[in-house]
Amino acid sequence: MVNLDVIEKKALREIKDVSDKEQLEALRIKYLGRKGELTLILRSLKDLSSQEKKTLGSKSNALKEKLQEAIDERFLEFGDEKSAGIDITRPGHKIERGHVHPLTLIEREVRRIFTSLNFSVVEGPELENEFYNFDALNLPEWHPAREAWDTFWIKPKKGDKERLLLRTHTSPVQIRYMETHEPPFQIIVPGRVFRYEATDATHGDNFYQFEGLMVGKNVSLANFKYVITKFFEEFFRGQDIEFRFRPSYFPFVEPGVEVDVRFKGGDWLEMLGAGMIHPHVFESSRYNPREYQGFAFGVGIDRLAMIKYKIPDVRMLYSGDLRFIKQF
Ligand code: FA5
Repeated sequence: MVNLDVIEKKALREIKDVSDKEQLEALRIKYLGRKGELTLILRSLKDLSSQEKKTLGSKSNALKEKLQEAIDERFLEFGDEKSAGIDITRPGHKIERGHVHPLTLIEREVRRIFTSLNFSVVEGPELENEFYNFDALNLPEWHPAREAWDTFWIKPKKGDKERLLLRTHTSPVQIRYMETHEPPFQIIVPGRVFRYEATDATHGDNFYQFEGLMVGKNVSLANFKYVITKFFEEFFRGQDIEFRFRPSYFPFVEPGVEVDVRFKGGDWLEMLGAGMIHPHVFESSRYNPREYQGFAFGVGIDRLAMIKYKIPDVRMLYSGDLRFIKQF
């Protein structure tokens, strides 16, 4: 029975010791050439039992590869790429360049436009507690409107003092921001939100929103209309877009409105909810509602993408389908 370990040791030492590429080529022939030591072993396998063939065969093939690599490495050291099996004239692999996701494109555009209107950009946590996501927004546990936000609750751990959830909207950041800042200010809050609901062409169970919040001594609904109109004009510049305001209800604003958008003659798509901040919300942030007023709005970033890029189904944005993603 041949001892491959002995051959391996000997060959590797000899390969290490050669001082020029001619000696190296001689070694290659000695071990791996047509009549080389290893080649002969591999050829003699046919006379062995099938069990022996298996073990000795895979071992000697592995050794063959190992010696070939060691030899190629040394050929490279001697500056002989060709003998090392490398063709330096072969064209290289073209590396494809990636690009940002359409939702990121939209978010960047939103940040750019609102910063130009003197808004600051603020962020908040995706893992929220019940107080910020609901109670402080005038949505106590018994409030039927809570059902409008189907919620992913986090399984409570022993000793937890508060109930945790994945935020269902970016509105909790209104409260977090007002707790630590004094008016006047104007901010936007882009971020990811989650809803435990069935998906369809215009509803994802995870999507993006951005919140807007402007508070001061003389802020009115007219200011909101101006800001959102400016935003749409800039965002949809060059596109034939119409939008409409209609009355709506959210417990954290009074009065409440919604804004729909469409291509001229197409179907309306609800884009955002908004309104004047409810006095209860100011109270949970320690502001005096007789001193300050403000407006807030929450816009669907995915919906902006749908209109801007004419995407028929919001779920395409999360499909990971390269045929779709490569179009941006
Ligand atoms: C809200 O989330 C309120 N927080 C908005 C708000 C903020 C009102 C401040 C008043 C003041 P609503 O659930 O309607 O409201 O969602 C707001 C926007 O997010 C919608 O107009 C829509 O553009 C988008 N949106 C809502 N649900 C989905 C969904 N499942 N998939 C994709 N986009 C959605």
